[in-house]
Amino acid sequence: MKKPLNFVITAGPTREFIDPVRFLSNPSTGKMGFSIARAAAKLGHKVTLIAGPVALKTPSGVERVDVVSAREMFNAAKEAVSTDCIFIATAAVADWRPKTCATKKLKKTEMSDVIKLVRNPDILKSISGCVKIGFAAETNDVLEEATRKCREKNLAMIVANDVTEEGAGFGTDTNRVVFIYPDGRTMPLKKMSKLAVARRIVRECENICS
Ligand code: C5P
Repeated sequence: MKKPLNFVITAGPTREFIDPVRFLSNPSTGKMGFSIARAAAKLGHKVTLIAGPVALKTPSGVERVDVVSAREMFNAAKEAVSTDCIFIATAAVADWRPKTCATKKLKKTEMSDVIKLVRNPDILKSISGCVKIGFAAETNDVLEEATRKCREKNLAMIVANDVTEEGAGFGTDTNRVVFIYPDGRTMPLKKMSKLAVARRIVRECENICS
């Protein structure tokens, strides 16, 4: 085995509460991030997995930190990263949160038909000083959008996929991805299980850090 690396991985959705029983979120299941955590631990690497609310078991040998909101995920990520780590952001972080969260359940009669939103921090963009890998789930202009994000967020690589394609994206067991690098190079992979994609990503991280 190559030198053990220190992986910090975000996974799953975040929840942004409107009141104690209502929230904004998305359909992420966390499968991709958990698969990377599992593959990296199996290959002998140290792994910290920062997980939003998901129904998945912690892979063996992985240290898991559970969070709910984007701001909690950001704080956990800042605490976990170090200059020698590889930060892989697979989480589907909610880009917006309600400006206020009511302390008691809002009655229907008290609810407005408008919810004021504020931007959440971009965790991947804000983390600095380590090797960063991102994901880009796109519905159109996949390569252009992913390349732009790779450069804008200062990533070593971005893993892009078209979420409208069958067997790729939210909740599926398979994925068809393209690795994209900041210099514009691309490496398309064939459709494979998320665990196989995960192994390829971990191997690519080993190459990037060698
Ligand atoms: O800009 P976009 O949301 O498409 O970027 C996707 C990448 O950025 C993913 O790797 C995702 O985990 C990360 N991200 C993040 N914090 C956000 C939004 C996205 O870490 N607030």
